[in-house]
Amino acid sequence: MKYVPSDHLLPGMISLKSIYNRRGVCLLGANHVLTPPIITQLCNQHYPGVFVYDEFPELGKMNPGFGEDWRISEVKAQHILNVDRVIFFATSVVESILHMEDRLLDMVELKEHKHDIYTHSVNVAMISTVCGIGMGLSDQELKELATTAMLHDIGKLAIPDEILNKPGKLNDDEMELMKSHSQLGATILDQTSALTNEMKKSILMHHENYDGSGYPTGAKGEEIPLYARIIHVADVYDAMIQKRSYKKPFNPLEVVEYLMGNAGIMFDIDVIYSFLRYVTIYPVGTMVTLSDGREARVVKNRPNQALRPVVVLKETKERVDLAEDRRYFNLTITGGECVFHEGDGLEPRGPVHMLA
Ligand SMILES: [Fe+2]
Repeated sequence: MKYVPSDHLLPGMISLKSIYNRRGVCLLGANHVLTPPIITQLCNQHYPGVFVYDEFPELGKMNPGFGEDWRISEVKAQHILNVDRVIFFATSVVESILHMEDRLLDMVELKEHKHDIYTHSVNVAMISTVCGIGMGLSDQELKELATTAMLHDIGKLAIPDEILNKPGKLNDDEMELMKSHSQLGATILDQTSALTNEMKKSILMHHENYDGSGYPTGAKGEEIPLYARIIHVADVYDAMIQKRSYKKPFNPLEVVEYLMGNAGIMFDIDVIYSFLRYVTIYPVGTMVTLSDGREARVVKNRPNQALRPVVVLKETKERVDLAEDRRYFNLTITGGECVFHEGDGLEPRGPVHMLA
C-alpha cells in the first residue's frame, strides 16, 4: 500500500479505500482501477491523494500446498486488473526508447536494480523493444511487444516461492513445475480482451527454441510468433548478465558468444543481429583488456559496433576508436569487467542510462 498525491496518480493504479468529498459523496470506491477521467476529476476537485495498492504485490506468497487451479485464480484475483497498467507502462517504455537518439541500451542500466520477476520483466521489455526497432516493427507492434514482454513470466506468480528462489539446482519434478510457467501465464491471461491472440501465444511460446527443441509445444522457426522469438533472446540475455543465488553473472564476451553460437539453434538469427546492433556489450566505464595485453576503459559506444567501442588506454591516456582507427584494427577486446574506478585520470564514467 502507498499514498500517491492526485497529480502523481497513474492510470491502472488500484484504490485501496473508498474516498468521499466534503458532502459525503463517494468519489471513488475501494478496489477501483484508476482511469485518466477519474484522475482528472480528482485533480479538478483538488482531492489531495489516494491510497493505492503497490503496483506489483509481493510475489510468491501463495501456499504451495494448494492446487494449480487455486493458484491460477489467486493470481488472476491479485493481478489481472493490472493489465491496463502494464499496457500503459509498456507504452511509456516504447515511447521513451523511440525518443532516444541512437537507442543504445546499456547493460549497466539493466543490472542496477534488485533482480526479481518485475525488474526482469522491465529489462526484457526494454531489450525486446530495441530489438523490435531494429527489425522494423511499427509503433503499435512495439507497444504490443513490450506489453507481452512485461507479462511473459506472469505464470511464475503461480509457482511456489520455494521453487522460484531455491538456491540450488531444481530436481526433475521442480523443473517440470517451473517450466509450466509459460502455460500457466497463457491460462491466466486467456480471457483478457486487452491482449491479442498473437500476444497470448507469444507468452505461451517464449521458451520455444528456433530448432524446435524448446517448450512447451516444440514449435520451430516461424511457427513461433515473432514477439516470442524476440522475447526469448531478451529473456536469456537478461538472465545471463544477472547475478543469481546459484550463479555468478557471465561476462559480456561469454554472453555474446553464447547468443551468436546459438543463432539458428535456440534463437532467430535476425533477432540476434538486431540485438547486437542495439545492446551495448561493453557499457561506458567498463575496463577492458585488449588482445595485446593493454588495459583500457570504454568511453563511447555506437550502434552496429557493439564489439569495437571507443576506449582510453590506461597507460598513455590515448583515446582510441577501435572501429575507426586503422592502427588498432588488429586488436580485439579479450575481456571486460564492469568495475568503475573514479579519479584514475581516465575519462569519467558517462551516464549509466541508455545512451542518448
Ligand atoms: Fe519464462
